[in-house]
Amino acid sequence: MSRIAVVTGGTRGIGRAICESLRDDGMTVVANYAGNEEKAKAFTAETGIAAYKFDVGTHEEALEGCAKIASDVGPIDVVVNNAGITRDGTLMKMSYDDWHDVMRVNLGGCFNMAKACFEGMKDRKFGRIVNIGSINGQAGQYGQVNYAAAKSGIHGFTKALAQEGARFGITVNAIAPGYIDTDMVAAVPEPVLEKIVAKIPVGRLGHAEEIARAVSFLSSEKAAFVTGSTMSINGGQHMY
Ligand code: CAA
Repeated sequence: MSRIAVVTGGTRGIGRAICESLRDDGMTVVANYAGNEEKAKAFTAETGIAAYKFDVGTHEEALEGCAKIASDVGPIDVVVNNAGITRDGTLMKMSYDDWHDVMRVNLGGCFNMAKACFEGMKDRKFGRIVNIGSINGQAGQYGQVNYAAAKSGIHGFTKALAQEGARFGITVNAIAPGYIDTDMVAAVPEPVLEKIVAKIPVGRLGHAEEIARAVSFLSSEKAAFVTGSTMSINGGQHMY
């Protein structure tokens, strides 16, 4: 039986690598995206993976988007909450909108997608939810009170929902990527990024595929005993 997986923010960066990895595992994969239609079309043309446009940070849109996927493709077995944005700036310069947008999309998106899919997973006695957190949610990061708070929230959300899902065959885990060579990290000013890379023991940025491999493992049938865990994949930058 081919499991159906939805990857939010799945047409670019880490999300795209996750889509491709789950597809290679034999799953039927659907990507979600919010903004860049052109890139989404190119993604579907290149990978054969369907892309559905909705804003995971808007409750009704996420519910409707998942309902549409379920009616077009089938019931959703695996959700990868990968969609995320940054609005970096020190607290003094950060607007309320910068705070709220990041909380709404990065953390609110996890809640909205879980609300949309958890009950069906419970009824079918199988589910895999993988939430993409961040090293910056574990360790904090100058200029990211919004992002660090949202990602830290994801780690708490994961542990709470894992307890609720366990008896229904639903596992809920998180991955905390370090700095990965995506557009998001490329937007960090060069001199700042150089200092960050200098602190990574492995001596380089990570690759999206290195995150995707772990998502594949956590989404697999055989990872049934792994729940409530956070896997840090950061080149040794943060150990605890
Ligand atoms: N610790 C202490 N002080 C720091 C600091 C740090 N880590 N970084 C900067 N400062 C200091 C600077 O030295 C400077 O001090 P002086 O004025 O005394 O020289 C002061 O703070 C202002 O620094 P900037 O010139 O950088 O300030 P800015 O307002 O121009 O920019 C910023 C602030 C936007 C936060 C910028 O520093 C920045 O982009 N930082 C990177 C943030 C980051 O890592 N984002 C990650 C994005 S990728 C991601 O989030 C993915 C993931 O999950 C890992």
